[in-house]
Amino acid sequence: MNIDTEHLHHWMNAVRISNNPMRTLDAFWHGQIKSKEWLISELLNYSPARPTIEIHGGWVGVLASMLFQTTKLNAQSIVSVDIDPLCQYVAEEMNRIEYSENRFRAETGDMCNRYPVTSIVINTSCEHITQEQYELWLSRMFDDQLLVLQSNNYNIPEHVRIAQNLEEFKTQSKLSRIVFSGEIDLPLYKRYMIIGSK
Ligand SMILES: C[S@@+](CC[C@H](N)C(=O)[O-])C[C@H]1O[C@@H](n2cnc3c(N)ncnc32)[C@H](O)[C@@H]1O
Repeated sequence: MNIDTEHLHHWMNAVRISNNPMRTLDAFWHGQIKSKEWLISELLNYSPARPTIEIHGGWVGVLASMLFQTTKLNAQSIVSVDIDPLCQYVAEEMNRIEYSENRFRAETGDMCNRYPVTSIVINTSCEHITQEQYELWLSRMFDDQLLVLQSNNYNIPEHVRIAQNLEEFKTQSKLSRIVFSGEIDLPLYKRYMIIGSK
């Protein structure tokens, strides 16, 4: 992944225009960026050609931008969904170039109310939804969609469903086909990832 100066400009502008620039900068913590880099490097092994992607809990759109800038992935289009209405305009600025090309859209909404038809659905916010919400979410996915899930063991109040280890995350995730599972050590927590399908 290479970030050119045009994209860098829009990243900085997205931070600048956000309602809380310091909070938006949280999306660029070392652990956040490393987790997304890891996701992309593994996804490249399983992605269909020219994927369409929906990201759930997409926050301020950093993952979407990193995916677009992975030329090998060749993403056709990305929709980033977040329940926080303050994320939408920031994510649009973060992905301004692809937004102008009609390849990116940010939407405000609850991931549990989505019925995505994209070839890939990414949910890096599994720790932010309860098991009941997750099972409702999973019930709305299609059998042939590639699902990419991330969670962690970081015990803070907004994390309502952490997993103590990768095995627990696999049990929570209830996928019938897993093509990849793994974990990485980050300074404050472990990040888990599962790639598979319903
Ligand atoms: C703080 S971010 C970080 C999550 C993860 N570590 C990552 O980097 O993707 C979590 C995001 O999930 C969003 N979120 C929580 N519950 C959600 C839901 N039910 N539907 C959509 N977005 C949700 C929050 O608004 C927040 O922007």
